[in-house]
Amino acid sequence: MLTEVTATRYVTPLREGGSLPGIVEADDLGTYVMKFTGAGQGRKTLVAEVICGELGRRLGLRVPELVTIQLDPVIGLSEPDQEVQELLKASGGLNLGMDYLPGSLGFDPLAYQVDPAEAGKVVWFDALINNVDRSWRNPNMLVWHGDLWLIDHGATMIWHHNWPGAAASAAKPYNASDHALAPFGPDVAAAAAELAPLVTEELLTEVAALVPCEWLVDEPGFDTTDALRRAYVEPLLARAADIHERITFDTPVNTKAPQPPGWLTDPIKPWPHPTKNTENSKKDDDR
Ligand SMILES: Nc1ncnc2c1ncn2[C@@H]1O[C@H](COP(=O)(O)OP(=O)(O)OP(=O)(O)O)[C@@H](O)[C@H]1O
Ligand SMILES: [Mg+2]
Repeated sequence: MLTEVTATRYVTPLREGGSLPGIVEADDLGTYVMKFTGAGQGRKTLVAEVICGELGRRLGLRVPELVTIQLDPVIGLSEPDQEVQELLKASGGLNLGMDYLPGSLGFDPLAYQVDPAEAGKVVWFDALINNVDRSWRNPNMLVWHGDLWLIDHGATMIWHHNWPGAAASAAKPYNASDHALAPFGPDVAAAAAELAPLVTEELLTEVAALVPCEWLVDEPGFDTTDALRRAYVEPLLARAADIHERITFDTPVNTKAPQPPGWLTDPIKPWPHPTKNTENSKKDDDR
């Protein structure tokens, strides 16, 4: 079970996020980024956040702690934005929370270098879970206390949107051309050698067990939530074995990391002062 807390104050919406996540404070005195069950993206986004976020953390990647948050929509009554009001009203009950990393910055490839080993682990992990949301346009990574943190695993495991075709979908390759870490020479072979053996049936069963039942009930084709939890295990287990052989890049992997522009790194030259011995300055001096 994930730790469960109760929201005590709705602080502000995070407008960068498409699903309109909000910052909330909770009764454990923690501050969380809250993802709402009533958001248009649906509850499967939250299921994916739990399974993939918790899997990533168990593989040694940095993912902020996940909790479930009980929400009484009444705490949002003072929120003036109509859209936020509606979202809160539609999300009474259990929602997802991610520990808020105060002062973190969005990942910027020109300001933060990632070594090929770490880039390889992130790209391999994203290939495993079929994450389509870690592109250079929308990296969904934060830099906090000098380290890289992974957030937003809602757009993963596309196969859970069509269970009858799940095995075929999970057998497909992963195109990493747009991945935010593709320019850092990701060493996916080394990552696969280290991480794939860790992705066991037991580990996947453990992370699938963390999803709250209410986000799994009434899934067409499944009589019980346990059966649905088992369905989450299979494609990931199959993919872990050989997905590194099916990661494609449109252009050859760059072994040279992106460099910041010269204006950012060149030493500042002294401001040029007018030369004293010019004709004009001589005239000025004569006056
Ligand atoms: N744990 C966190 N700590 C600090 N800031 C965060 C955290 N999680 C998210 N954010 C901020 O909120 C933004 C939106 O979060 P997130 O990407 O998870 O939402 P989303 O609605 O799924 O977004 P998307 O538009 O990528 O689908 C992030 O880009 C980041 O700026
Ligand atoms: Mg995002």
